[in-house]
Amino acid sequence: MAFGKLESPTPDSLLTLMSHFRADPRARKVDLGVGVYRDSHGDTPVFNAVKRAERRLCSGQSTKAYLGTLGDPDFVAALARRALGSDSLAGLQTVGGTGALRLAAELLARTLPQRRIWVGVPTWSNHVPIFNAAGLPMRTVELFDSDSRCYRPDALLDGLGEAKPGDAVLLHGCCHNPTGVDPDAGFWMRIADHIRERGLVPLVDMAYQGLGRGWEADSAGLRLLAERVPHLIVAYSCDKNFGLYRERVGALFIRGSSARETATLIDHLAALARADYSMPPDHGAAVVRVILENPELTAAWDEELTGMRSRIRGLRTALAAYGRIGTVDLSALAEGYGMFAMLALTVAQIEALRADHGIYMATSGRINIAGLANDQVAAFVDALHTVQRQPTAVA
Ligand code: LMR
Repeated sequence: MAFGKLESPTPDSLLTLMSHFRADPRARKVDLGVGVYRDSHGDTPVFNAVKRAERRLCSGQSTKAYLGTLGDPDFVAALARRALGSDSLAGLQTVGGTGALRLAAELLARTLPQRRIWVGVPTWSNHVPIFNAAGLPMRTVELFDSDSRCYRPDALLDGLGEAKPGDAVLLHGCCHNPTGVDPDAGFWMRIADHIRERGLVPLVDMAYQGLGRGWEADSAGLRLLAERVPHLIVAYSCDKNFGLYRERVGALFIRGSSARETATLIDHLAALARADYSMPPDHGAAVVRVILENPELTAAWDEELTGMRSRIRGLRTALAAYGRIGTVDLSALAEGYGMFAMLALTVAQIEALRADHGIYMATSGRINIAGLANDQVAAFVDALHTVQRQPTAVA
Protein backbone atom coordinates (compact mmCIF):
# COMPACT_ATOMS: atom_id res chain seq x y z
CA MET A 1 0.00 0.00 0.00
CA ALA A 2 3.04 2.28 0.04
CA PHE A 3 1.85 3.87 -3.20
CA GLY A 4 -1.88 3.75 -2.57
CA LYS A 5 -4.25 2.00 -4.93
CA LEU A 6 -2.08 2.07 -7.99
CA GLU A 7 -3.48 1.80 -11.48
CA SER A 8 -1.41 1.95 -14.64
CA PRO A 9 -1.51 5.31 -16.41
CA THR A 10 -2.86 5.48 -19.94
CA PRO A 11 0.16 4.77 -22.14
CA ASP A 12 1.27 7.52 -24.52
CA SER A 13 -0.11 6.49 -27.89
CA LEU A 14 2.89 7.66 -29.98
CA LEU A 15 5.46 6.00 -27.73
CA THR A 16 3.42 2.78 -27.73
CA LEU A 17 3.29 2.89 -31.52
CA MET A 18 7.08 3.36 -31.58
CA SER A 19 7.63 0.23 -29.48
CA HIS A 20 5.16 -1.84 -31.54
CA PHE A 21 6.99 -0.80 -34.69
CA ARG A 22 10.35 -1.79 -33.21
CA ALA A 23 8.98 -5.18 -32.17
CA ASP A 24 7.56 -5.93 -35.65
CA PRO A 25 9.93 -8.43 -37.31
CA ARG A 26 8.79 -7.67 -40.89
CA ALA A 27 11.58 -6.31 -43.07
CA ARG A 28 9.33 -4.11 -45.21
CA LYS A 29 7.57 -2.27 -42.38
CA VAL A 30 6.97 1.49 -42.66
CA ASP A 31 7.04 3.89 -39.71
CA LEU A 32 4.74 6.87 -40.27
CA GLY A 33 4.19 7.27 -36.52
CA VAL A 34 6.46 9.36 -34.34
CA GLY A 35 7.62 12.68 -35.82
CA VAL A 36 11.20 11.86 -36.77
CA TYR A 37 12.63 12.94 -40.13
CA ARG A 38 13.90 10.11 -42.35
CA ASP A 39 15.94 10.37 -45.51
CA SER A 40 15.13 8.70 -48.85
CA HIS A 41 16.50 5.38 -47.47
CA GLY A 42 14.42 5.57 -44.30
CA ASP A 43 17.33 6.57 -42.03
CA THR A 44 17.63 9.43 -39.54
CA PRO A 45 21.32 10.27 -39.83
CA VAL A 46 23.19 12.76 -37.67
CA PHE A 47 23.72 16.04 -39.59
CA ASN A 48 27.28 16.39 -40.91
CA ALA A 49 27.34 19.88 -39.43
CA VAL A 50 26.47 18.35 -36.04
CA LYS A 51 29.28 15.79 -36.35
CA ARG A 52 31.74 18.58 -37.17
CA ALA A 53 30.54 20.71 -34.25
CA GLU A 54 30.83 17.68 -31.95
CA ARG A 55 34.42 17.11 -33.02
CA ARG A 56 35.23 20.75 -32.24
CA LEU A 57 33.53 20.47 -28.87
CA CYS A 58 35.35 17.26 -27.97
CA SER A 59 38.74 18.67 -28.78
CA GLY A 60 38.20 22.17 -27.37
CA GLN A 61 36.00 21.71 -24.31
CA SER A 62 38.04 22.09 -21.16
CA THR A 63 35.44 21.45 -18.47
CA LYS A 64 32.05 19.91 -17.85
CA ALA A 65 31.43 21.89 -14.69
CA TYR A 66 27.88 23.17 -14.12
CA LEU A 67 26.67 26.03 -16.29
CA GLY A 68 23.65 26.99 -14.19
CA THR A 69 19.86 26.83 -14.23
CA LEU A 70 19.53 29.04 -17.33
CA GLY A 71 21.80 26.74 -19.33
CA ASP A 72 24.16 28.16 -21.92
CA PRO A 73 23.38 31.88 -22.43
CA ASP A 74 25.38 32.01 -25.67
CA PHE A 75 23.25 29.19 -27.11
CA VAL A 76 20.09 31.07 -26.10
CA ALA A 77 21.34 34.33 -27.65
CA ALA A 78 22.50 32.67 -30.89
CA LEU A 79 19.19 30.81 -31.25
CA ALA A 80 17.17 33.97 -30.55
CA ARG A 81 19.03 35.85 -33.29
CA ARG A 82 18.74 33.04 -35.80
CA ALA A 83 15.20 31.85 -35.04
CA LEU A 84 13.40 35.01 -33.99
CA GLY A 85 15.55 37.51 -35.86
CA SER A 86 16.07 39.56 -32.72
CA ASP A 87 17.15 39.36 -29.15
CA SER A 88 14.19 41.36 -27.90
CA LEU A 89 12.92 38.33 -26.00
CA ALA A 90 14.74 37.01 -22.94
CA GLY A 91 15.23 33.28 -22.68
CA LEU A 92 16.64 30.24 -21.01
CA GLN A 93 17.78 26.86 -22.26
CA THR A 94 15.30 24.04 -21.59
CA VAL A 95 15.08 20.27 -21.76
CA GLY A 96 13.81 20.15 -25.34
CA GLY A 97 10.67 21.87 -26.55
CA THR A 98 8.62 19.76 -24.15
CA GLY A 99 10.61 21.13 -21.21
CA ALA A 100 9.96 24.65 -22.49
CA LEU A 101 6.22 24.00 -22.75
CA ARG A 102 6.12 22.53 -19.26
CA LEU A 103 7.98 25.47 -17.71
CA ALA A 104 5.74 27.91 -19.58
CA ALA A 105 2.63 26.07 -18.37
CA GLU A 106 3.88 26.07 -14.76
CA LEU A 107 4.62 29.78 -14.94
CA LEU A 108 1.21 30.52 -16.44
CA ALA A 109 -0.57 28.40 -13.83
CA ARG A 110 1.27 29.96 -10.88
CA THR A 111 1.20 33.60 -11.86
CA LEU A 112 -2.59 33.91 -12.28
CA PRO A 113 -4.60 31.15 -10.59
CA GLN A 114 -7.81 31.71 -12.59
CA ARG A 115 -5.96 31.61 -15.93
CA ARG A 116 -6.92 29.05 -18.58
CA ILE A 117 -5.13 28.12 -21.76
CA TRP A 118 -7.08 27.93 -25.01
CA VAL A 119 -6.03 25.12 -27.29
CA GLY A 120 -7.28 24.47 -30.83
CA VAL A 121 -7.82 20.75 -31.40
CA PRO A 122 -6.56 18.53 -32.87
CA THR A 123 -3.16 19.36 -31.46
CA TRP A 124 0.06 17.52 -30.59
CA SER A 125 -0.97 14.61 -28.35
CA ASN A 126 1.42 15.68 -25.57
CA HIS A 127 0.08 19.23 -25.20
CA VAL A 128 -2.86 18.12 -23.08
CA PRO A 129 -0.82 15.98 -20.61
CA ILE A 130 1.75 18.78 -20.26
CA PHE A 131 -0.86 21.40 -19.38
CA ASN A 132 -2.69 18.97 -17.08
CA ALA A 133 0.53 18.07 -15.27
CA ALA A 134 1.32 21.74 -14.75
CA GLY A 135 -2.16 22.34 -13.31
CA LEU A 136 -3.07 24.79 -16.07
CA PRO A 137 -6.81 24.57 -16.80
CA MET A 138 -7.56 24.12 -20.47
CA ARG A 139 -10.36 25.11 -22.85
CA THR A 140 -10.40 23.46 -26.24
CA VAL A 141 -11.69 24.85 -29.53
CA GLU A 142 -12.64 22.34 -32.24
CA LEU A 143 -10.82 23.29 -35.45
CA PHE A 144 -11.79 20.24 -37.45
CA ASP A 145 -14.87 20.80 -39.57
CA SER A 146 -16.56 17.42 -39.74
CA ASP A 147 -18.73 18.34 -42.76
CA SER A 148 -15.84 19.29 -45.04
CA ARG A 149 -13.39 17.00 -43.15
CA CYS A 150 -11.04 19.97 -43.16
CA TYR A 151 -8.96 21.58 -40.45
CA ARG A 152 -9.77 25.29 -40.17
CA PRO A 153 -7.16 27.28 -38.21
CA ASP A 154 -9.39 30.39 -38.48
CA ALA A 155 -12.01 28.79 -36.25
CA LEU A 156 -9.71 29.48 -33.29
CA LEU A 157 -10.65 33.16 -33.54
CA ASP A 158 -14.37 32.42 -33.18
CA GLY A 159 -13.69 29.96 -30.37
CA LEU A 160 -11.83 32.55 -28.33
CA GLY A 161 -15.08 34.48 -27.74
CA GLU A 162 -15.17 33.52 -24.07
CA ALA A 163 -11.47 34.04 -23.34
CA LYS A 164 -10.86 36.38 -20.40
CA PRO A 165 -7.98 38.85 -19.95
CA GLY A 166 -4.92 36.95 -18.78
CA ASP A 167 -5.95 33.70 -20.46
CA ALA A 168 -3.26 32.08 -22.59
CA VAL A 169 -3.61 30.84 -26.18
CA LEU A 170 -1.54 28.03 -27.63
CA LEU A 171 -0.41 28.62 -31.22
CA HIS A 172 1.66 26.38 -33.49
CA GLY A 173 4.45 28.50 -35.00
CA CYS A 174 4.58 26.51 -38.25
CA CYS A 175 4.10 23.00 -39.69
CA HIS A 176 1.03 22.32 -37.58
CA ASN A 177 1.17 19.06 -35.68
CA PRO A 178 -0.85 16.96 -36.54
CA THR A 179 -2.50 18.47 -39.65
CA GLY A 180 0.29 20.27 -41.54
CA VAL A 181 -2.23 23.05 -42.25
CA ASP A 182 -0.69 26.43 -41.42
CA PRO A 183 -2.69 29.64 -41.14
CA ASP A 184 -1.96 32.52 -43.53
CA ALA A 185 -0.58 35.97 -42.71
CA GLY A 186 -4.14 37.33 -42.39
CA PHE A 187 -4.81 34.91 -39.55
CA TRP A 188 -1.65 35.96 -37.69
CA MET A 189 -2.68 39.59 -38.07
CA ARG A 190 -6.20 38.93 -36.77
CA ILE A 191 -5.07 36.72 -33.89
CA ALA A 192 -2.47 39.32 -32.89
CA ASP A 193 -5.17 42.03 -32.78
CA HIS A 194 -7.47 39.73 -30.83
CA ILE A 195 -4.75 38.88 -28.32
CA ARG A 196 -3.82 42.53 -27.82
CA GLU A 197 -7.40 43.78 -27.52
CA ARG A 198 -8.42 41.07 -25.05
CA GLY A 199 -5.23 41.05 -22.98
CA LEU A 200 -4.38 37.41 -23.75
CA VAL A 201 -0.97 35.74 -23.52
CA PRO A 202 0.19 33.81 -26.61
CA LEU A 203 2.27 30.69 -26.11
CA VAL A 204 3.81 29.71 -29.45
CA ASP A 205 5.07 26.17 -29.88
CA MET A 206 7.88 26.34 -32.45
CA ALA A 207 9.17 22.84 -33.11
CA TYR A 208 9.62 22.60 -36.88
CA GLN A 209 11.19 25.81 -38.11
CA GLY A 210 12.85 25.26 -41.47
CA LEU A 211 10.85 22.18 -42.44
CA GLY A 212 7.86 24.01 -43.92
CA ARG A 213 8.09 26.99 -46.28
CA GLY A 214 11.65 27.97 -45.38
CA TRP A 215 13.61 29.23 -42.38
CA GLU A 216 12.42 32.86 -42.54
CA ALA A 217 8.94 32.13 -43.86
CA ASP A 218 8.30 29.59 -41.10
CA SER A 219 8.77 32.24 -38.44
CA ALA A 220 6.91 35.02 -40.29
CA GLY A 221 3.71 34.51 -38.24
CA LEU A 222 5.63 34.50 -34.97
CA ARG A 223 7.55 37.63 -35.93
CA LEU A 224 4.35 39.39 -36.91
CA LEU A 225 2.84 38.44 -33.55
CA ALA A 226 5.97 39.62 -31.72
CA GLU A 227 5.61 43.06 -33.33
CA ARG A 228 1.97 43.43 -32.39
CA VAL A 229 1.44 41.97 -28.91
CA PRO A 230 2.91 43.11 -25.61
CA HIS A 231 3.45 39.71 -23.98
CA LEU A 232 4.80 36.63 -25.68
CA ILE A 233 6.09 33.19 -24.77
CA VAL A 234 7.83 30.92 -27.28
CA ALA A 235 8.63 27.25 -26.60
CA TYR A 236 11.37 26.34 -29.06
CA SER A 237 12.65 22.88 -30.02
CA CYS A 238 15.86 22.08 -31.92
CA ASP A 239 14.99 18.37 -32.09
CA LYS A 240 13.99 18.23 -35.75
CA ASN A 241 15.76 21.15 -37.39
CA PHE A 242 19.14 20.10 -35.96
CA GLY A 243 18.29 16.37 -35.79
CA LEU A 244 19.24 16.36 -32.10
CA TYR A 245 16.16 14.49 -30.86
CA ARG A 246 17.67 12.49 -28.01
CA GLU A 247 19.91 15.33 -26.84
CA ARG A 248 16.84 17.33 -25.72
CA VAL A 249 17.70 20.82 -26.95
CA GLY A 250 15.22 23.62 -26.52
CA ALA A 251 14.66 27.11 -25.22
CA LEU A 252 11.92 29.18 -23.68
CA PHE A 253 11.72 32.81 -24.76
CA ILE A 254 9.56 35.33 -22.98
CA ARG A 255 8.65 39.01 -23.01
CA GLY A 256 6.70 40.71 -20.23
CA SER A 257 5.22 44.22 -20.13
CA SER A 258 8.55 45.84 -19.27
CA ALA A 259 12.22 44.93 -19.11
CA ARG A 260 11.84 44.67 -15.36
CA GLU A 261 8.88 42.29 -15.57
CA THR A 262 10.71 40.20 -18.16
CA ALA A 263 13.70 39.87 -15.84
CA THR A 264 11.42 38.82 -12.97
CA LEU A 265 9.71 36.26 -15.22
CA ILE A 266 13.10 34.78 -16.09
CA ASP A 267 13.91 34.59 -12.37
CA HIS A 268 10.66 32.68 -11.78
CA LEU A 269 11.36 30.33 -14.69
CA ALA A 270 14.85 29.71 -13.31
CA ALA A 271 13.35 28.86 -9.91
CA LEU A 272 10.85 26.47 -11.53
CA ALA A 273 13.62 24.83 -13.56
CA ARG A 274 15.80 24.49 -10.47
CA ALA A 275 13.03 22.61 -8.68
CA ASP A 276 12.16 20.50 -11.75
CA TYR A 277 15.56 19.37 -13.02
CA SER A 278 18.08 21.91 -11.72
CA MET A 279 19.95 22.49 -15.00
CA PRO A 280 19.42 21.45 -18.62
CA PRO A 281 21.81 18.99 -20.32
CA ASP A 282 24.60 20.81 -22.13
CA HIS A 283 25.87 18.79 -25.07
CA GLY A 284 23.16 19.33 -27.70
CA ALA A 285 22.80 23.04 -26.95
CA ALA A 286 26.57 23.44 -27.16
CA VAL A 287 26.47 21.79 -30.60
CA VAL A 288 23.80 24.23 -31.79
CA ARG A 289 25.80 27.16 -30.39
CA VAL A 290 28.98 26.01 -32.17
CA ILE A 291 27.05 25.70 -35.45
CA LEU A 292 25.32 29.06 -35.16
CA GLU A 293 28.45 30.93 -34.10
CA ASN A 294 30.45 29.66 -37.07
CA PRO A 295 29.34 30.94 -40.52
CA GLU A 296 30.78 27.96 -42.38
CA LEU A 297 29.06 25.43 -40.12
CA THR A 298 25.86 27.48 -40.25
CA ALA A 299 25.91 27.32 -44.06
CA ALA A 300 26.57 23.55 -44.00
CA TRP A 301 23.72 22.94 -41.53
CA ASP A 302 21.38 25.17 -43.53
CA GLU A 303 22.12 23.18 -46.68
CA GLU A 304 21.26 19.91 -44.95
CA LEU A 305 18.06 21.41 -43.55
CA THR A 306 17.13 22.69 -47.00
CA GLY A 307 17.62 19.15 -48.34
CA MET A 308 15.21 17.80 -45.72
CA ARG A 309 12.64 20.43 -46.56
CA SER A 310 12.90 19.67 -50.29
CA ARG A 311 12.48 15.97 -49.66
CA ILE A 312 9.33 16.56 -47.62
CA ARG A 313 7.98 18.87 -50.32
CA GLY A 314 8.79 16.25 -52.97
CA LEU A 315 6.93 13.57 -51.00
CA ARG A 316 3.93 15.86 -50.57
CA THR A 317 3.87 16.51 -54.33
CA ALA A 318 4.31 12.82 -55.19
CA LEU A 319 1.49 11.75 -52.85
CA ALA A 320 -0.79 14.58 -53.99
CA ALA A 321 -0.48 13.38 -57.58
CA TYR A 322 -2.50 10.27 -56.64
CA GLY A 323 -5.52 12.47 -55.91
CA ARG A 324 -8.42 11.00 -54.00
CA ILE A 325 -8.34 7.44 -52.75
CA GLY A 326 -11.74 6.71 -51.30
CA THR A 327 -12.15 8.96 -48.28
CA VAL A 328 -8.51 10.07 -48.35
CA ASP A 329 -7.82 13.21 -50.37
CA LEU A 330 -4.10 12.99 -51.00
CA SER A 331 -4.20 16.06 -53.25
CA ALA A 332 -4.66 18.19 -50.09
CA LEU A 333 -1.15 17.24 -49.00
CA ALA A 334 0.29 19.62 -51.57
CA GLU A 335 -1.22 22.53 -49.61
CA GLY A 336 0.33 21.53 -46.27
CA TYR A 337 3.72 22.12 -44.65
CA GLY A 338 6.11 20.07 -42.59
CA MET A 339 6.12 16.43 -41.68
CA PHE A 340 2.51 15.80 -40.75
CA ALA A 341 -0.84 15.31 -42.42
CA MET A 342 -4.12 13.79 -41.33
CA LEU A 343 -5.70 11.06 -43.44
CA ALA A 344 -9.44 10.44 -43.26
CA LEU A 345 -9.24 6.74 -42.37
CA THR A 346 -11.20 4.76 -39.81
CA VAL A 347 -9.43 3.16 -36.86
CA ALA A 348 -10.20 -0.24 -38.42
CA GLN A 349 -8.50 0.82 -41.66
CA ILE A 350 -5.50 2.14 -39.72
CA GLU A 351 -5.26 -1.16 -37.87
CA ALA A 352 -5.52 -3.06 -41.15
CA LEU A 353 -2.66 -0.98 -42.57
CA ARG A 354 -0.56 -2.04 -39.58
CA ALA A 355 -1.57 -5.71 -39.48
CA ASP A 356 -1.67 -6.49 -43.22
CA HIS A 357 0.87 -4.06 -44.67
CA GLY A 358 3.30 -3.24 -41.84
CA ILE A 359 2.39 0.46 -42.13
CA TYR A 360 2.36 2.18 -38.74
CA MET A 361 0.52 5.46 -38.23
CA ALA A 362 -1.25 7.10 -35.30
CA THR A 363 -4.85 6.02 -34.74
CA SER A 364 -5.83 9.69 -35.01
CA GLY A 365 -5.06 9.37 -38.75
CA ARG A 366 -1.83 11.40 -38.52
CA ILE A 367 1.03 10.36 -40.75
CA ASN A 368 4.63 11.49 -40.66
CA ILE A 369 5.15 11.99 -44.39
CA ALA A 370 8.93 12.07 -43.90
CA GLY A 371 8.75 8.45 -42.69
CA LEU A 372 8.19 7.26 -46.27
CA ALA A 373 11.32 6.09 -48.07
CA ASN A 374 11.22 7.02 -51.78
CA ASP A 375 10.54 3.45 -52.87
CA GLN A 376 7.64 3.06 -50.42
CA VAL A 377 5.31 5.70 -51.85
CA ALA A 378 3.58 3.51 -54.44
CA ALA A 379 3.17 0.59 -52.01
CA PHE A 380 1.71 2.96 -49.41
CA VAL A 381 -0.86 4.27 -51.89
CA ASP A 382 -1.72 0.68 -52.95
CA ALA A 383 -2.26 -0.22 -49.31
CA LEU A 384 -4.60 2.77 -48.91
CA HIS A 385 -6.64 1.41 -51.84
CA THR A 386 -6.67 -2.09 -50.40
CA VAL A 387 -7.80 -1.24 -46.87
CA GLN A 388 -10.58 0.93 -48.21
CA ARG A 389 -11.87 -1.91 -50.33
CA GLN A 390 -11.91 -4.40 -47.43
CA PRO A 391 -15.41 -4.60 -45.95
CA THR A 392 -13.97 -5.61 -42.53
CA ALA A 393 -11.87 -2.46 -42.37
CA VAL A 394 -14.90 -0.15 -42.59
CA ALA A 395 -15.75 0.64 -38.98
C1 LMR B 1 5.63 13.83 -32.59
O1 LMR B 1 4.63 14.56 -32.53
O2 LMR B 1 5.61 12.71 -33.10
C2 LMR B 1 6.93 14.32 -32.01
O3 LMR B 1 6.78 15.62 -31.53
C3 LMR B 1 7.55 13.38 -31.07
C4 LMR B 1 6.87 13.32 -29.73
O4 LMR B 1 7.57 13.43 -28.73
O5 LMR B 1 5.66 13.13 -29.66
